[in-house]
Amino acid sequence: MSIVEEIQKRRTFGIISHPDAGKTTLTEKLLLYGGAIQSAGAVKNSKIKKTATSDFMEIEKQRGISVATSVMAFNYKGRKINILDTPGHKDFAEDTYRTLTAVDSVILVVDCVKGVEAQTERLMEVCRMRKTPVIIYVNKLDLEGQDGFDLLDELESKLDIKVRPLSWPIGVGHTFKGVYNLFDKNLNLFNPSKTKVETDTVSIEDISSPVLDEQIGEDPANQLREDIDLIDGVYDAFSEEDYMKGDVAPVFFGSAVNNFGVKEMLDTFIRISPFPQARETDEGMIEPLDKKFSGFIFKIHANLDPKHRDRIAFLRICSGIFERNTFYKHVRLDKKMRFSNPTSFMAQDKSVIEEAYPGDVIGLYDSGNFKIGDTLTQGDNFMFKGIPSFSPEIFKELENRDPMKSKQLEKGIQQLTDEGVAQLFIMQPGNRKIVGTVGALQFDVIQYRLEHEYGAKCEFVPKKYHMACWMTSDNEQQLDQFLKVKANYIADDKDGNKVFLAESPFLLKMAEQDYPDIVFHRTSEFKVA
Ligand code: G4P
Repeated sequence: MSIVEEIQKRRTFGIISHPDAGKTTLTEKLLLYGGAIQSAGAVKNSKIKKTATSDFMEIEKQRGISVATSVMAFNYKGRKINILDTPGHKDFAEDTYRTLTAVDSVILVVDCVKGVEAQTERLMEVCRMRKTPVIIYVNKLDLEGQDGFDLLDELESKLDIKVRPLSWPIGVGHTFKGVYNLFDKNLNLFNPSKTKVETDTVSIEDISSPVLDEQIGEDPANQLREDIDLIDGVYDAFSEEDYMKGDVAPVFFGSAVNNFGVKEMLDTFIRISPFPQARETDEGMIEPLDKKFSGFIFKIHANLDPKHRDRIAFLRICSGIFERNTFYKHVRLDKKMRFSNPTSFMAQDKSVIEEAYPGDVIGLYDSGNFKIGDTLTQGDNFMFKGIPSFSPEIFKELENRDPMKSKQLEKGIQQLTDEGVAQLFIMQPGNRKIVGTVGALQFDVIQYRLEHEYGAKCEFVPKKYHMACWMTSDNEQQLDQFLKVKANYIADDKDGNKVFLAESPFLLKMAEQDYPDIVFHRTSEFKVA
């Protein structure tokens, strides 16, 4: 198979949702279609459940299990599909944001009872920022959920994206009869089953046909005709081009646990979703068809066994062909590296691969060379852009509780923050370490891992910062003055960039007013990763 064919058959995407909307269930059904698993329940234990804060060990355990399901690859109808798993747990949101940098499209799962939830809004913001094409799957139609049109309005207003239903539900909850596929013009009758893979499909080209009344009854049939009239009147016809630009999100309705509406979505997905796309570097765009290999690290997973400190770095291949045992350049370290055991994640097995293509994600064993955002190339010096750090929401100062182990503490916190567990800011005087996270859980995880993996004891002292802002300005004098005046609130991030730690939204606003030539960025996206 030529490299063009290899690229065109690949689809690399992420499934995202608010916890409990049905992401794990949907993933599992997709894997069943791909033959990657044989029975339901196989993915279930990979998920980070809504565990209590104190139960972080359980979460660590689950994180460990989830290495195997971080990437799930399977073949379906001639395509090679790579699903990138994203933790639903809010405290691991940063993990999810970074995973979104490695996908070409996204499937967003929404619970029809709960509608759009907070976590979904934030995840969608990241997709919009990156112009990632999104398909929405409205789940749990077997429950008494909201009206379809209300849901579409809510999706548009809360997610700030145009939507276009490609299927439409007939009733909801106990009156749910099935969905009409507006794309293929057929009717799928709901037949609750957790094990059945196929649904009963009746082709109805013309919805005025009496066959519709025979199938679902006269009143629901008339309601469906009215609804479809309204949809065609209100929503523009579906445009693949707009979907590819991230301007419109097609919407499907179904019930993942009953395996309903999943196949239609999957079949449409492989037809319309993008194959591996070009990616931006500090030296311009890199096309998947570029001859030379390149890729970047978007996730690092620690080995759970404290005796083996090696880690798995996840590499997204962006161009060329990756080959085993070949020397590549680690651009940030200006170092040649080769990998004897690169692994793929086909089905549930991890296996050593000889080569991999753009769109693929492979695991590289790492003893501490990689940091999130690192680029590997075949000798070139460019770095991939757009692996953002977002401002943390919780800040705490790291204090050493065992002076004899300060070296271990230093090494441990550097490595854990390289892995992306949290962000590290250094403040002067005294090289004080401020650790920032999006969730409270990470502090427990860091404390535990520092002690068990590095033998260092620490404590965290809460800090009252509201936000970390990266700064740029064309007015050097003004920036210098700001850095001097606000010296007590300035820190360096891991890459040595200056960051303003604002104590409140008000103080940030004041800074923006008083120093109009400085741009305060809420993410590090503007800078080279
Ligand atoms: P998540 O990964 O997004 O967190 O969600 P997950 O798939 O685990 O689903 C959350 C709960 O919703 C699960 O129930 C799951 O069975 C249920 N669910 C998923 N799809 C549907 C659906 O279409 N209809 C209905 N009624 N429920 C659905 P649970 O009780 O938390 O877990 P379990 O005991 O069923 O495994």
